[in-house]
Amino acid sequence: MREQLLALKEEVSKALGSATTDQELDKLRTRYLGRKGPLTTILRGMKDLPEQERPVLGNLANQIKQELTGLLDDRREKIRDEERIRKLEQEQIDISLPGRRAARGVYHPLTIVTREIIAIFQGMGFEVVEGPEVELDFYNFEALNFPQDHPARDMQDTFYVAEDVVLRTHTSNVQIHTMKARTPPFRVIAPGKVYRCDSDTTHSPMFHQVEGFLVDRDVSFSQLKGVLTVFCQALFSPDVPLRFRPSYFPFTEPSAEVDIGCFLCKGTGCRVCSQTGWLEILGSGMIHPEVFRAVGYDPDTYTGFAFGAGIERIAMLKYGIDDIRLFFENDQRFLQQF
Ligand code: PHE
Repeated sequence: MREQLLALKEEVSKALGSATTDQELDKLRTRYLGRKGPLTTILRGMKDLPEQERPVLGNLANQIKQELTGLLDDRREKIRDEERIRKLEQEQIDISLPGRRAARGVYHPLTIVTREIIAIFQGMGFEVVEGPEVELDFYNFEALNFPQDHPARDMQDTFYVAEDVVLRTHTSNVQIHTMKARTPPFRVIAPGKVYRCDSDTTHSPMFHQVEGFLVDRDVSFSQLKGVLTVFCQALFSPDVPLRFRPSYFPFTEPSAEVDIGCFLCKGTGCRVCSQTGWLEILGSGMIHPEVFRAVGYDPDTYTGFAFGAGIERIAMLKYGIDDIRLFFENDQRFLQQF
């Protein structure tokens, strides 16, 4: 029986040494130290031994049981330690790796273009002025020499807030505010939001314009041409073809619209320029004597020119954007491109 016990001890120690998981240890415990295990069987057989051998072998058996239990516990602790170390190593964070970048905002294409336009005119001595978007009929129409029955006054184009109050349909209202508040000479540009009851791929009920005007004595049309030429060359390219085409606005006389050569087809005619080879980008003209009279200036003393351009239109042409609504959807995939 002594040999049996020692052999058992040997066997269990070996088995424990090769166990690598908690579950394996549980199995070994049940197999060797459990109620149906060999040790229990040996201890049960104790009663059949001669009386004098019992205490010695009993002691040995209990001692071995204790030892094996101790070994098992040690082994379990070792396995758990190893597991902990393995996990720690596996789950280690490499703090030298670059972090996840926080999403970074970009300037809206309209902001970029507006600032570019402002910078060009500031380079020519213009200052930036703003005016109200909710406007009296007087500033938006009357003082700008719109005849009472002019179609632009029609409900179809203009958002009326009240009988005499509109959302400005253009930035030309700033001409009137500025002229009333100041004495010439001055040169001003006025970027801002304008509103027209119109909506499709190239028209938005709210869009942006930039107005520009210069008032002084002896201002000539050639100065208007010069300023707008510098502007277009700086904004598009130094060799952009330009065309001043006679036009009509109630508040300028003479009036001209400025076209640039279509950069898509280089003038041969395409879908973008409606087969004309030209793209209209702004309206302009010499300030009408009636406008000067409306603000209390003597038209024999003062002269000036004015111009107005749609900022979305310029941005669409510059960046090749074919739907104005993209500017107002705030889709990151669109905005991140500029
Ligand atoms: N206000 C005009 C428009 O909205 C543009 C313009 C401004 C024309 C100044 C001439 C002079 O179409």
